[in-house]
Amino acid sequence: MERFVVRSGAPLSGTVRVSGATKNSGLKQMAGALLAPGVTVLRNMPPVADLDVMIAVLRAIGAAVEWSGSDELRIDATGSLHPEAPYELVTQMRASINVLGPLLARCGQAKVAMPGGDAIGSRRLDMHFRGLEAMGVELEVVHGFIEARCNALAGARVVLEFPSVGATENLLAAAVLAKGQTIIENAAREPEITDLAAFFNRMGAQVFGAGSSTIEIEGVDELLPVESEIMGDRIEAGTLLMACGIAGGEVMLEGARFEHLEMVALKLGEMGLRVSPTPDGLWARGDGRLSAVDIATLPYPGFATDFMPMAVALLTVCEGTSIVTENVFDNRFGFVDELVRMGADVRNEGRHAVVRGVERLSGAPVQANDVRAGAALLIAGLGADGETTVYGRRHVDRGYHDLAGKLRSLGADVEALA
Ligand code: EPZ
Repeated sequence: MERFVVRSGAPLSGTVRVSGATKNSGLKQMAGALLAPGVTVLRNMPPVADLDVMIAVLRAIGAAVEWSGSDELRIDATGSLHPEAPYELVTQMRASINVLGPLLARCGQAKVAMPGGDAIGSRRLDMHFRGLEAMGVELEVVHGFIEARCNALAGARVVLEFPSVGATENLLAAAVLAKGQTIIENAAREPEITDLAAFFNRMGAQVFGAGSSTIEIEGVDELLPVESEIMGDRIEAGTLLMACGIAGGEVMLEGARFEHLEMVALKLGEMGLRVSPTPDGLWARGDGRLSAVDIATLPYPGFATDFMPMAVALLTVCEGTSIVTENVFDNRFGFVDELVRMGADVRNEGRHAVVRGVERLSGAPVQANDVRAGAALLIAGLGADGETTVYGRRHVDRGYHDLAGKLRSLGADVEALA
């Protein structure tokens, strides 16, 4: 069974380069590449398991996708496309839904399997649907598939009920080639949205205001393929910072951007971990046991939900009691029972968890059920006596490129076993 084995040891020390954000930014640009007939080249895309799924989705649609380097992908969307994303692929990875907007723009129709819920919550798509309908799309869910069609996409003003990352991305991708102006109000402001908008603008799109709550898009007639470099993975950087909080020590994270991690740095600072920007990335240092703080997750620039499980892992060994509130997903505390197996004192009720810090955790076999839960259990092992085995490694490999290797290069005793 694929697993991580981790033993606590010396404090972390050294420098590591943060990988490209393949999962949360790269996959969206892969879907966006469908908008430009020709060959798009995406760099800084290290392989993670979800990337294989997106490659399969694009190939099923009719694009040619191949590696042209260890972290460089070429996507040729020249030929005619078959606008259908099959059930077996979409149910493996929700980001497949990001092909909906590009397929409508390119083909005037799309048939995409409904992804369903997953381990962290129900994850609805109503905002994607309402926004596309405002742009002239007729859409229904039939036999488990989203069937959508339009004569031509028309620009519209769309107000999102919540700043959904996926809905903002899909509407942005639909709007760049739509007729006229689209305005997305209450848009998600995550750096991955800014990365996607910059990618579209390099292709010739007219997107203004990405990174703010109002995004304006003036539709253009065509987009041209470009070469693009994916942003550094801020979630991986945050994971390594929290690992440093648990194990102590001093680390340099090359390629991490302080402005993407300000709220994390603020919270970690309150806990006693020093985090500062450097010309190349981020520096962090932790001495001794950190102090408890309360955390509430929010859309960017708030404390991201994707950091929450790792933050809880850190808080389990801090001095004092914390209240952690999850405001984005309705069921993201599944990992808490596994931390309790390691001796953590955490009580979860609904959207809240009360974490009473203990001196040390105790290594145990535990099971990961999603990508960040797995990362949280892995770094919890750095603060646990004896050996921790994290089963369900495949969940971590969906989104992280060699997390165990990165921790090892900082001196941690972590193995990824098949
Ligand atoms: C993206 O998911 C990320 N996934 C998630 O990363 C991340 O947690 C999330 O954004 C929030 O930052 C990728 O980028 C591949 P949302 P997404 O639409 O786009 C509700 C990780 O660990 N909602 O912003 O699916 C939804 O149910 C992952 O890397 C609706 O109600 O997130 C959720 O509660 C997991 N209706 C909330 O909004 C809709 O139409 C946020 O979802 C859309 C969303």
